[in-house]
Amino acid sequence: SLVTSKDMFKKAYEGQYAVGAFNVNNMEIIQGIVDAAKEERAPLILQVSAGARKYAKHIYLMKLVEAAIEDSGLPICLHLDHGEDFEICKSCIDGGFTSVMIDGSKLPFEENIALTRKVVEYAHGRGVVVEAELGRLAGIEDAVNVSTKDATYTDPDQAVEFVERTGVDSLAIAIGTSHGAYKFKGESNLDFDRLATISRLLPAFPLVLHGASTVLPEFVEKCNNYGGQLKGAQGVPEDMLRRAGQLGVCKINIDTDLRLAMTASIREHLSKNPADFDPRQYLKPARAAITGMVKHKIRNVLNCSGR
Ligand code: G3H
Ligand code: 13P
Ligand code: NA
Ligand code: ZN
Repeated sequence: SLVTSKDMFKKAYEGQYAVGAFNVNNMEIIQGIVDAAKEERAPLILQVSAGARKYAKHIYLMKLVEAAIEDSGLPICLHLDHGEDFEICKSCIDGGFTSVMIDGSKLPFEENIALTRKVVEYAHGRGVVVEAELGRLAGIEDAVNVSTKDATYTDPDQAVEFVERTGVDSLAIAIGTSHGAYKFKGESNLDFDRLATISRLLPAFPLVLHGASTVLPEFVEKCNNYGGQLKGAQGVPEDMLRRAGQLGVCKINIDTDLRLAMTASIREHLSKNPADFDPRQYLKPARAAITGMVKHKIRNVLNCSGR
């Protein structure tokens, strides 16, 4: 059935593991992820961005996820990723999502609180849970010194005030990750001291890590070996994700690793089979590549297999 993330996060917090939140845009991506979660008997969050809704349409994604639930028998949470205003959150709540993110992280603190509070009131009245964000995800040049860190990373005391005043169900924090395939120049570095402090000040409260793809070298190399140009791509090392899962992070967001797995497979297939033109010939292995990658994450990184 379609469920919220409430119980998933409670169990994840207590068990010191994380639930994977995977971005979905089409049928093959949904099937690839759900096959993995089914084989691993793992809790699962499928998340949809504004861009995904624009690409595939809300109704198609909704029906595909309903089909995935019916076909797999898994409980799945369907989440809006990075909702930027009240309207898109309302639209997803009214349209059957069980979880929404209101991302007011660009707003001044008081405005972020007011907007988040408004979404929480609407969502909770309808049995839907809410994720918010405080602090800004780093750009590749950001946070090279302490003062930029303090200006962009999540402030622990503000996080406590934010959670108390909004009644939000989970909070995305900024500790040095960023979206996409180019997260770090040189050595990767996350602010685990800050994460530990936030986690200590918010006991039993689920934190969320965005920008958590590892940018697996296997897929980057395959893309580059078959005509791609992904120079200097670098993500969050998997041991750092495991550590985050033990420090109160209950939801780990993964999109880029799905994109890379799929694209690497398609590039390889078309390069090795230049006469193929039936989309099923390259989408089938691409879907299988997603399943393999997600199984690896569930088992070896999120530690949520069988949970
Ligand atoms: O946070 C960003 C996610 O990777 C979704 O990306 O807005 O291109 O669908 P998108
Ligand atoms: P990645 O780009 O690291 O996969 O992050 C995805 C994300 O945070 C979606 O909200
Ligand atoms: Na989100
Ligand atoms: Zn994100």
